[in-house]
Amino acid sequence: MNQIDNNKKNEQIVYLNGQFIPMTQSKIATQDRGFLFGDGVYEVIPVYNRHLFSFKEHLQRLKNSLHAVSIPNPLTEKEWLNLLNQLIKKHPWQEQYIYLQVTRGIQMQRDHLPADGLTPTIYAYTNPLKPISQETLEKGIRVITLEDIRWLRCDIKAITLLPNVMMKLAAKSQNADDAILISKKGFVTEGTASNAFIVKKGTIFTPPNSTKLLPGITRLLIERIAKNHNIPLVEQNITEQALTDADEIWLSSSTKEALPVTSLNGKPVGTGKPGMVWHKIKTYYQAQKQAFIEEYTD
Ligand code: PDD
Repeated sequence: MNQIDNNKKNEQIVYLNGQFIPMTQSKIATQDRGFLFGDGVYEVIPVYNRHLFSFKEHLQRLKNSLHAVSIPNPLTEKEWLNLLNQLIKKHPWQEQYIYLQVTRGIQMQRDHLPADGLTPTIYAYTNPLKPISQETLEKGIRVITLEDIRWLRCDIKAITLLPNVMMKLAAKSQNADDAILISKKGFVTEGTASNAFIVKKGTIFTPPNSTKLLPGITRLLIERIAKNHNIPLVEQNITEQALTDADEIWLSSSTKEALPVTSLNGKPVGTGKPGMVWHKIKTYYQAQKQAFIEEYTD
């Protein structure tokens, strides 16, 4: 097989407005409001053993985001499921993560005010989901704190992520893997693309859901695991001081699961190693994932 055929065979397929096409051929109209205004919302959904994980929860959050920005949900639940399952099938990977995005659609005359009756643009693609390296899990990650410079509706999973990109760059420039964001009032909100947790004397704390942070699905799963295994977890505002004094700090997201933070602003968190409570939660989380995988194994 020559190189061109091989490239074609391995080419990623994306979904764009009703069609499955090669990624290299997918094109968005320049007048799409997603391109001009960042006028859209998105989801990231993990796929284990070729099945969508926590689909209902992700779809509900997508519906909430669409509703909050007054973009009509373009598909029924069945249609979403069918579309995403087709996308999964077109790729060989057992573990994937799906990115899906809905923008308000194309509007020829640029206007902040959306025209009536626009047709939302639907885009989705999938990537292989690589497990977090053993080294990262053993060493943890380095994080700095930064002022949360985002808007006041961080509960919406909006595609407009410029502040997150800026803060991620700022973290990198300070030799850190990520940043934990601190509100003007001095409370932890979340990470640049993750939710935040601390542990103090065996109790897990995470900020309560509000317009200041995204209601993470992984966060929700961690809360359920803690409850089922009688590990105390409290939703409570976390001051920057409490963060500094924490025995453990973690970040969570669909692609990273629960990641231990072992360095905060250049100083060790607790013992400087991933903590016991994180270990417990991680073990239960993996067991839950394994049960899900086995459910779909012939
Ligand atoms: N981000 N907070 C923010 C700001 C996020 O962007 C994310 C996820 C989360 C965690 O949510 P969940 O557990 O549902 O993945 C919290 C995705 C992964 C992303 O933007 O790639």
